[in-house]
Amino acid sequence: MQTKRTLLSAAAFALLAATSAAWAQNQGKLKVGFMLPATGTFASLGTAIDNGFRLYVAEQGGKIAGREVEFVRVDDESDPSKATDNVNKLIKRDNVDVIVGTVHSGVAMAMAKAAKESGTLLIIPNAGAAAVTGPMCAPNIFRSSFSNWQPGYAMGEVATKKGHKRIVTITWKYAAGDEAVKGFKDGFEKGGGNVIKELSLPFPNVEFQALLTEIAALKPDAVFTFFAGGGAVKFVKDYSAAGLKKSIPLYGSGFLTDGTLEAQGADAADLLTTLHYGDNLNTKRDQSFRLSYAKTYKLQPDVYAVQGYDAGQILGIGLNATKGDAKNITGFAQAVRAAKIDSPRGPFILSKSHNPVQDIYLRKVVGKENVIEGIASKALADPGLGCKM
Ligand code: BEZ
Repeated sequence: MQTKRTLLSAAAFALLAATSAAWAQNQGKLKVGFMLPATGTFASLGTAIDNGFRLYVAEQGGKIAGREVEFVRVDDESDPSKATDNVNKLIKRDNVDVIVGTVHSGVAMAMAKAAKESGTLLIIPNAGAAAVTGPMCAPNIFRSSFSNWQPGYAMGEVATKKGHKRIVTITWKYAAGDEAVKGFKDGFEKGGGNVIKELSLPFPNVEFQALLTEIAALKPDAVFTFFAGGGAVKFVKDYSAAGLKKSIPLYGSGFLTDGTLEAQGADAADLLTTLHYGDNLNTKRDQSFRLSYAKTYKLQPDVYAVQGYDAGQILGIGLNATKGDAKNITGFAQAVRAAKIDSPRGPFILSKSHNPVQDIYLRKVVGKENVIEGIASKALADPGLGCKM
C-alpha cells in the first residue's frame, strides 16, 4: 500500500519532470556552432571531430538535456587572421549556445578571447595552446583534448630512457610547435639530455628539404617533431626519402601518425610517438565506440574523433546539470569539474584550468595502426601556468 509520503513524492517527481521537459522545450533548440577547418592541411582533422561529436549526439537520440541539437558550421581555414571574424559570426550572427572548435592553436586563442568577452560556452576539441588553459582560462572554456606540452613532455622522458643525449627538434613555427618542443625539452633535459638545435618553418609550409639536409649534417642521436594532418604525411615521407629513417630515429607527438597512416604507408613503419589515444586499447568502452564509429562513418576513428566525441560528453554533463541552460556557467562548470569523463581513451578528469589529466601512451606504428606499447606518463597534468579562476 502506498503511503501519503510516497504518493506525494511521486506527484512531486512527475511535476518536476513535466517542468523540466517544459523548461527544455521553452529554451528551444540547442544551437551548437562548429568552428573547424574544412579546407587546408587540417581539413581531415575537422571532419573527424565533427563526426565524433555528432556520434555522441546521435547516441543521445539527437537531444542534449531535452533540447534538440541544431548545428551551424564555419570553416576557419586554420587561419588565425580570420579567426575573430569567424567566431563572431557564430556568437553575434548565429547566436549559438555553445561553440565547439578548433584544431589550430592560433585560431583557438582568438576564439578563447571572444568566448571570454561574450561569456559564450567554448569547448575546444583539439587545439593544445597553453594560453587557453593558462593565462586566458575562464569558467566557460573547456578542453576535451590535450595541451601541446603533454605528449611532448612524455616523449622527452621516453628519449631519456632510450639513452639519447643529443637531439634536434623540427616543427612548424607557431604555438603548437613551440609548445610541443618546450614539453619535449622539459622531459628530456631534466634527464641530462641536450636539444642541440631547434629547427622550424612557417605553418603550413611543407618545404622540408633544406632542414632535412641540416639534420643529416648535424648527426644527432635522434629527432623529435610536431607535425599533423597533411603536413605530417609529407614530413614522414620526405624524412624517409632523404634516407634519414635508417640512420636517425624519428620521434613525435602522436599527431605525426594519427589519422595519417593510410597516406604514409611503409614510410611510417615502426615510428614511435606519444599520445593520449591508440588503436588497440582493447577496453569495452573503446571497442564499443570504435564499432559504432565504424558502422556510422565506414571509417576507423582516430584521436580527433575521440576528442570530438568527448567534447559532446562534456557538453552533455554540463547541460544535464543545468537542465539545458547554457547560460548557467557556474552550474555547468561545477558539474564538469566534478565529473570523471568516460572517454574511449580511458577515463579522465579536468584540471582546475579545465584541461584533461590523462595517461599518455607510447605507441608504435605497425601496419595501419598506432599500437600501444605502454603508458609513457601516467595521469599527466598540464602545469596550467598563469591560470587564475
Ligand atoms: C594545434 O595547433 O594545437 C594542433 C594542431 C593539430 C594537431 C595538434 C595540435
